[in-house]
Parts: sequence; structure tokens; C-alpha cells
Amino acid sequence: MGLHFVTQQRPITDALRRSVVEDLPEIEQVQNLVLRTKAIEAWAFALSHSSFGRISDIPPGGNPGMNVLKRGSQADHLRGVARLALQIADTFIAQRPEVRIDRDVVLTGALCHDVGKPYEFDPVNLARWEEDPSATGQPTLRHTVFGTYVCLAVGLPEEIAHIACAHSLEGQHIGVSSECMIVRHADHAYWSVAGALGLLTPESLRRDPILRVRKLADEVKQAAE
Ligand SMILES: [Fe+2]
Repeated sequence: MGLHFVTQQRPITDALRRSVVEDLPEIEQVQNLVLRTKAIEAWAFALSHSSFGRISDIPPGGNPGMNVLKRGSQADHLRGVARLALQIADTFIAQRPEVRIDRDVVLTGALCHDVGKPYEFDPVNLARWEEDPSATGQPTLRHTVFGTYVCLAVGLPEEIAHIACAHSLEGQHIGVSSECMIVRHADHAYWSVAGALGLLTPESLRRDPILRVRKLADEVKQAAE
């Protein structure tokens, strides 16, 4: 049994950073310059440590092979979660101005919550984990854990690393920040509603007793022809 070291596959270039902004244009709405710059750096860092060329090359799943969009890419999920999270925040801010929400942390956290996916979805890693899970674990690290490492490595603040860490299962074991609670619900809502609306492949659907899947408009049309 050998040891495996996570290494950088290619340099972090301005072209790679530009591709992050092209795939996640909402990143330009982050007001705090440090958060905006480091969010771009986090994705460039994560991609450069993976086989993926850009965010839109990552398969559009919640986990590898689970809750996979029929069309689109991981960028659609991230942008959807960013939109939903801001809408949750803005609804409460509009209704109850006395609430205190850091909108910039919500937006940056939503755009970076899955920054560990280039690692967890990397086909090279998936093949290595499949070969001997008893040696590697399967996965060795979930995207939440690797994403936490990425956030801290590029100098994002703990508030964003916390969202990468606790937006999913890991958040059930710790107290979560208000901004993390918003992103968690936006993320989970994205997959649940996408499943109900027929946007996920049937074979990738997480078992859910209350789920009844609606057909997409083009599927109804196709069935009628
Ligand atoms: Fe997500």
C-alpha cells in the first residue's frame, strides 16, 4: 500500500481565475474585495489540484452519482444556491429589518460551499478510492472537508470555511452560524425541488418517501408525439 499526496496538477493562471468568474458571474456581486478575490482564488486552487479544467466541467451532482442534474453543470447548482440563499436573506431583511445577516458572507459562502467538489468528483480520485477503499477510505475526504482546507489555504475567513464545512452532513454535529443555516437550506432546497420538478436523473435520485416526480415540458411533449 502506497501513500498518496494531494498535489497541484497545473499552475494557477489568470485564465483559470477568469474562467471562475465566467462560470460564477455572481461572484462580482460580492462587495468585500478580500472575500471576492479569495473566493476566486479558492476555486482556482481547488481546480488546479484536480483533473477538471473549469467549474462547468464538474458533473452536476450533489455527491458523485447522487442527485445528478439531467442537463447543465455544477455551475448551475452553485448559481442556483447563491440566488436562493440571497433570496432567503433578503426576505427576512425586508420583513424584519432588526435581523442581522452578513449578505456578503451568505453570497460568498453559497458560491464556495462546494469548493471541495473538484477533489471529491475527480475521476482519478474516484478510481483510486474504488480500487481499495480499505486503504483509502471512500471518499478519503468529502467535499465539505476538502473544501474547508481549500478555504483556509487561500486565506478565506473562518466564516466561509465554516459554511464549506457545515452546509451538509457535517453540520449536524456542530452549531452552525446564521449565514451557514441560510446556505444549508438553500442547498438542500435546490436538490429537493430539482428532484420534484424532474430535473434530476431517475437513477441518481436519493430515496425519499414523499417525492413524486413531475415530468419536464419537453418530456411531456415527446411522450405525446
Ligand atoms: Fe451544494
